[in-house]
Amino acid sequence: MLAKLVPGSVAAAESTSDPAEAALHPAEQDLVRNAVTKRRQEFTTVRWCARRAMEQLGLEPGPVLPGHRGVPQWAPGVVGSMTHCAGYRAAALARTEDLAALGIDAEPNAPLPEGVLESISLPQELGWVRSLGRSHPGISWDRLLFSIKEAVYKTWFPLMRHELDFQDALVTVDPAAGAFRATLLSTGASPAPGAPRHFAGRWASEHGVLVSATWVPARVPAQRSAPRTVLAGSAV
Ligand SMILES: CC(C)(COP(=O)(O)OP(=O)(O)OC[C@H]1O[C@@H](n2cnc3c(N)ncnc32)[C@H](O)[C@@H]1OP(=O)(O)O)[C@@H](O)C(=O)NCCC(=O)NCCS
Repeated sequence: MLAKLVPGSVAAAESTSDPAEAALHPAEQDLVRNAVTKRRQEFTTVRWCARRAMEQLGLEPGPVLPGHRGVPQWAPGVVGSMTHCAGYRAAALARTEDLAALGIDAEPNAPLPEGVLESISLPQELGWVRSLGRSHPGISWDRLLFSIKEAVYKTWFPLMRHELDFQDALVTVDPAAGAFRATLLSTGASPAPGAPRHFAGRWASEHGVLVSATWVPARVPAQRSAPRTVLAGSAV
């Protein structure tokens, strides 16, 4: 499912199980030595996915160690992202000549716990989450909103090293095209000049899992913004 969501320059690998062949790199073993089984499994399988993606890019498969604030550390010249949830693990990698940053996120296609939607959404987002819930009931739109914001964060943070609150990004979705757009409204203290403000991306739902992916092209002309898309009944 992930390969359909990302540009052709991205190497994507995913798994819906924890196969026996998925093994930790020796340099990763200490990181989960005392972890519970669930954490060991997701940590191991997602890194096995990452190594498959490295091979697709023509790289020597190596360890993936967490760096500052949990950001995965990739080889020089590589950007990427990893995600895991019940029944799904995935990694996506690209060369920096193609993309400046990349974020993926997977969530179960099930409603958020009570009260969470209100804490992660803006009023405009509450509107489309509720109306799409009536017109397209097969998708947990509240959970998709959460997933998109997590994917945006995973793209933003490794690039800018600057926090982003859930209320800092306004998300709209195109339910028919499986596309979304996130616009940063405020980022607290000013980030560096040239920080991305618009994030275009794609999402899909398969086998009970929602997956979101977004990316920043390697070179964005200064005044160019992402294409306008008609989203959930309104132009954004
Ligand atoms: C870090 C965070 C994004 C992880 O997302 P999640 O849905 O909980 O978990 P996922 O399984 O999808 O992703 C986990 C992976 O994300 C990656 N990750 C962790 N911290 C990261 C960070 N700061 N930046 C980028 N990627 C990160 C890691 O690869 C991690 O896997 P690992 O622990 O096996 O190494 C989330 O816990 C978080 O802190 N969110 C709050 C900030 C936020 O999302 N704001 C929204 C702004 S619009």
